[in-house]
Amino acid sequence: MLFSAKIDLAKRMIEPHTKHNVVRLSALKEYFNDQVEVERMINSLGDLVVYEYFENSFGDEEENVNFGLTVLYPGKVGREYFLTRGHFHEKRAAEIYIGLEGEGVILMQSEDGKVEWRPLEPNTVVYVPPGWGHRTINTGNQRLTFFFAYPSDAGHDYEIVRRKGFAKLVVEENGRPVLIDNPKYRT
Ligand SMILES: [Fe+2]
Repeated sequence: MLFSAKIDLAKRMIEPHTKHNVVRLSALKEYFNDQVEVERMINSLGDLVVYEYFENSFGDEEENVNFGLTVLYPGKVGREYFLTRGHFHEKRAAEIYIGLEGEGVILMQSEDGKVEWRPLEPNTVVYVPPGWGHRTINTGNQRLTFFFAYPSDAGHDYEIVRRKGFAKLVVEENGRPVLIDNPKYRT
């Protein structure tokens, strides 16, 4: 199928898309380090939208490229910035991210537990190599919007991140993002 899609930053979406998912604090409770603070925030502020994404998905079909737009809102749980769940691909497939607005980072972790991070901001392309788990984090005061594309048969393993987390956390220290060891990380 041949088609093109239009990114509309004012409307924060890509048209057309086949999928739109909205992810709220309650769905991310186990992905943040301080789950008690997540509960407290839900009780006091409500179940905030942390991120949403629009995707052109070909399912698990081989040979295509799924692509879309993610909008990750600003905020923190304690000192930990708002984040996406993060995942490893089930197949060793790479992914491309292109920053469009806002300030953030991509946290990446290799299969043997090595952690790297790279800025994700307008006009920055981040190449996530095969085998590296990845999560995006909004370290700014505005929304972080970015484009992504990955092989349609890559598959997603969120469960490994839910159970083990990433080895490092991105937290605010004196107004800046720093990388610290995740005290709850299990190898
Ligand atoms: Fe991915």
